[in-house]
Amino acid sequence: MIYQIDRPLAQTELFSLTVINYNGKKSVLKEPRSDKGPEEYRLACKSLTREENHLKLLRGNQGVVQLLESSFGDPAIIINYVQGLTLAEFIREGREKYLQNMLLGEQYVHHVLEKVTDAARIQSSLSQILLAHADFSPSNIILNPQVTLIDYGSSVGRSGKFGFPTTPSPKKSIYCAPEQILHTDVNETTDTYSLAMTLWESLEGLPLRNTDHSFAQENELKTAFFSHHPYLAREITTLIRQAAAPSSFDRPKLEEFADALSAIKI
Ligand SMILES: Nc1ncnc2c1ncn2[C@@H]1O[C@H](COP(=O)(O)OP(=O)(O)OP(=O)(O)O)[C@@H](O)[C@H]1O
Ligand SMILES: [Mg+2]
Repeated sequence: MIYQIDRPLAQTELFSLTVINYNGKKSVLKEPRSDKGPEEYRLACKSLTREENHLKLLRGNQGVVQLLESSFGDPAIIINYVQGLTLAEFIREGREKYLQNMLLGEQYVHHVLEKVTDAARIQSSLSQILLAHADFSPSNIILNPQVTLIDYGSSVGRSGKFGFPTTPSPKKSIYCAPEQILHTDVNETTDTYSLAMTLWESLEGLPLRNTDHSFAQENELKTAFFSHHPYLAREITTLIRQAAAPSSFDRPKLEEFADALSAIKI
């Protein structure tokens, strides 16, 4: 395997991500962190195997990060580099401005609704291949400016071959549906739940729920922009509440969630 290292990209709980030049293309090497213990290494390998196998199934699908190389001796994958900001970075950069200016507020809310809708539609289009992405959060959606979904390390396939994904860490569990915490059946609406949490955080700047799944905030959008748009606040809040219903059977499917979001007029 020949590649040139460009720069470090990210260091997460289990992984080290590096921007590399691979076959003349800017790419990303994702591998287990070398500074962690054997248990973390085992979890990282399990997640990489899952991601590698599921990305193979998703090859050629629009809006999904592409697997370029895998199984080259070391537990690692090479994926295409997606230029752009993650939704998490976009929130950090854009929300403050949106709080202060009503016109920018409209643009920001419109943009966020559109991007979460796109994420729901992309994942919905994969439902014949995968049951769920199972790890939606603002940091797993890249805007370039079209949406690209990344991080299929927790995804759930239709074959059940890779068993249950690893138990989410407390930091990530704020986006997880109850069935993921309880290890009961995950389905498409598991992603609806996490996208609803992602949407809330994009609009309010803070998570809706605590790690124990109690509400961290009053569940009504209340930033300055929404106090001037109470009808809109109610409409979005109602949709988020439905999408984050405790029982997966009470939630809209991804396509229904996307349709409801795109019907909101700002
Ligand atoms: N293909 C890519 N192109 C550009 N940036 C990427 C790419 N893949 C990952 N990143 C960046 O690296 C970060 C971590 O990558 P990734 O989500 O795959 O790791 P993880 O350990 O599985 O994440 P998590 O913290 O969600 O568990 C992403 O949030 C994003 O900022
Ligand atoms: Mg991630």
